[in-house]
Amino acid sequence: MTTPLRLGIAGLGTVGTGVVKIVQRHAAVLQARTGRAIEITAVSARSRDKDRGVRLNGYAWEDDAVALARRDDVDIFVELVGGDSGPAHDAVAAAIAAGKDVVTANKALLAHHGQDLAERAEAKGAVIRFEAAVAGGIPVVKALTEGLAGNEITRVMGVMNGTCNYILTRMESAGLPYADVFQEASDLGYLEADPNLDVGGIDAAHKLSLLAAIAFGTRVDFGSVVMEGIGRISIDDIRQAADMGFRIKLLGVAQLTGRGLEQRMTPCLVPSDSPLGQLEGGTNMVVLEGDSVGQIVLRGAGAGMGPTASAVMADVMDIARGIRISTFGQPATTLKPSPAAHSGPPASFYLRMRLQDKPGALARIATVLGEAGISIDRMRQYNHAETTAPVLIVTHKATRDALDRAIDGMAGTGVLVGDPVAIRIEDV
Ligand code: HSE
Repeated sequence: MTTPLRLGIAGLGTVGTGVVKIVQRHAAVLQARTGRAIEITAVSARSRDKDRGVRLNGYAWEDDAVALARRDDVDIFVELVGGDSGPAHDAVAAAIAAGKDVVTANKALLAHHGQDLAERAEAKGAVIRFEAAVAGGIPVVKALTEGLAGNEITRVMGVMNGTCNYILTRMESAGLPYADVFQEASDLGYLEADPNLDVGGIDAAHKLSLLAAIAFGTRVDFGSVVMEGIGRISIDDIRQAADMGFRIKLLGVAQLTGRGLEQRMTPCLVPSDSPLGQLEGGTNMVVLEGDSVGQIVLRGAGAGMGPTASAVMADVMDIARGIRISTFGQPATTLKPSPAAHSGPPASFYLRMRLQDKPGALARIATVLGEAGISIDRMRQYNHAETTAPVLIVTHKATRDALDRAIDGMAGTGVLVGDPVAIRIEDV
């Protein structure tokens, strides 16, 4: 008879509690599917006394996650502590040193230390799996490492931070400014303890860098992700983009081009009628493109107890079934460093600006664009506000460098009021 697979769970917050619930509720089905009983032997968390609404008696308690990781009665160390260093890192490193497999939901840890930890694990014959770290309940790591393993992946895109998508779609539906919806998201408990992880794009960029490593066989390079948050998106941008047939998303794009590995997590316009454009509220969507398969769209809950615990269990069950896939889909020592491409390929841009309402103002702006080699696709002028006129321009494809040159040139025209807003329009 096979022996039970024994879990040690560090971190009993929302996700850890969710994992305990699944192991307790679905013990029979987990065993039937994997051929092995899956049991929890030990847990650790900050507070032992907190009522989490689950039964923890019967599990050994450790105050220290590192001690938990080293226990002889733990086969898989399940790291749900979070953070890119400190106890999470120390405990994962200790588990690997002890030859144990690791399942984690920690995107920050792997974005910063994934290469090193994966190499250490593989040297020990252990695996690190992280389905729950990217897009919560969406099985995107599995899709890339297994379902699409026979493809050359050409592009990975996605909305991978539900909080940002909630804020942007709520601003649009309620007609509220960013600051009000940010406060609402905070009151609802949607924001990370450090909100900049969400609205600054960092959390989503962590996730993108992990997917890029799998997709392109490159070393995780979080430091090269071009990143911009959503804090400067105004309700005017959202409304006027909608008027032109677009929605604004905090969109991640990764692709390997002749110029190197391009990784961006920035606000982008996408067509309102595209799957990404139709994504509402706190939901995530990942779009994968492969040379044989074409485009795959995965959509679902990117956070929360059930969805994230579901992803943790998928990894645990793989290990129970004897499926041992390298952390990034191929041995970590074979992942290649890739030069970073810091600007994306040419794209259309949305440009919003306010001009002095006087003869020739628009002509001067058009001249500056023309001089930078940028052609105008569409243009709208909205109701005048006293002596200024809001103007919206959608360009034909141009490089970001050319656009930046044009924006610099606009400053010298003497007709611009304030700074123009430029947002890339992504071909999705
Ligand atoms: N804070 C994240 C989100 C979930 O809003 O999607 C964890 O990565």
